[in-house]
Amino acid sequence: MTLVVTGATGHLGRLVVENLLDRGVPAAGIIAVGRDLDRLKDLADRGVQLRAADYADSASLRAAFTGARRVLLVSGSEPGVRVQQHHNAIEAARGAGVELLAYTSIVNADTSTIGMAEDHRATEALLRASGVPSVLLRNSWYVENYTDHIGITLERGVLFGSAGEGRVSATPRADYAAAAAAVLATDGHAGKAYELGGDDAFTLAQLAAEISVLSGTPIRYTDLPEADYIQALAGNGVPQAFAEILADADQGLRRGELATTSGDLARLLGRPTRPLKEAVNAALDVVRPA
Ligand SMILES: NC(=O)c1ccc[n+]([C@@H]2O[C@H](COP(=O)([O-])OP(=O)(O)OC[C@H]3O[C@@H](n4cnc5c(N)ncnc54)[C@H](OP(=O)(O)O)[C@@H]3O)[C@@H](O)[C@H]2O)c1
Repeated sequence: MTLVVTGATGHLGRLVVENLLDRGVPAAGIIAVGRDLDRLKDLADRGVQLRAADYADSASLRAAFTGARRVLLVSGSEPGVRVQQHHNAIEAARGAGVELLAYTSIVNADTSTIGMAEDHRATEALLRASGVPSVLLRNSWYVENYTDHIGITLERGVLFGSAGEGRVSATPRADYAAAAAAVLATDGHAGKAYELGGDDAFTLAQLAAEISVLSGTPIRYTDLPEADYIQALAGNGVPQAFAEILADADQGLRRGELATTSGDLARLLGRPTRPLKEAVNAALDVVRPA
C-alpha cells in the first residue's frame, strides 16, 4: 500500500511521515512530497520515497500521486491561491484513482465564520464534487501557535489576544499528525469528517494562568478589541494582512468556533490528547537557561 504525504517539508507533514514510520509502515511504501527535496534527505536515507511537487503545478502533482493508494493533502499556506491549489491536488488524486484523499481542514468548517474557514469550506465542496473518496481532518489550533512565542510572553509578562472568554481546543501538532497517520494507515475513514481538537479546551486567560504557574513568572492575559489587537500585532512586526487574519480568527475563538467536544481526536489516537501543561512545560524547557 502506497501512502503519500504532501507538505512533508512542513511541520505537520514531516510529523505524519515520522508517525507512519513509527507505526511500522514500511518506508518504501511512503512517498513524502515537497517542493524542496533537499530538506527531506534524511527521510530518503531511511528509505522513504521522495517526489517533488508544487500545488500550483498540476503536472507535478499528477507525477507525485502516480501509484498512490491513499494521499494526505496538507492544506497550502498561501492565502488567495489555496483553493485553486487544492483543486489541482484533488484532480491529480482523482486521476491517480486514489482510494482515499485526506484533507487538513479547519474545525467546525461547516459553520465557522472565521475568514480562513472559507478556503477550507470551498476545498471541502471541491472534494465532494470530485467524487474522490475523502476524509476531512478538521483541525483546531496547534498549541504551538501560543507556545512558540512563550519566550516573548515571559519577557513581557503579558499575553495579548482578542478572544475574550472563548475557549480553544488547541493541542500539539504531534497529536493531529498522529491522527492523520492513523487515518492513512487504517481502514474505514472514507466519508468521515473528524472534528479534531484537544480534550480540554481553554481560554487564553487560562493559558496565561498555566504559564504563570509552570514558569513562576506572573503572566496576565490582556484582551484587546479587534482593531487594537491588529495594531499590536503589526507593531510587533507581524505583516498587516496576517495580523488581520489572526485577529479575525480570535473573534471566531471568542464565539467558540475553534472549540470542539467531539472526542474524535482522542478516539483516533486511542489515548487522551496531550495536556496543555505538558505542551507549556516543553516550551519552557526550550527557553529556560540551561
Ligand atoms: N491548525 C493550525 O493551528 C494551523 C496553523 C498554521 C497553519 N495551518 C494550516 O495547516 C497546514 C500545515 O501546517 P504546518 O504547521 O505543517 O505548516 P508549515 O510548516 O508552514 O508547512 C506547510 C507545508 O505546505 C507546503 N506548501 C505550501 N504551499 C505549497 C505549494 N504551493 N506547493 C507544495 N507545497 C506547499 C509547504 O511547503 P514548503 O516547505 O515548500 O513551503 C510545507 O511543506 C498549513 O499549510 C496551513 O494550511 C494550521
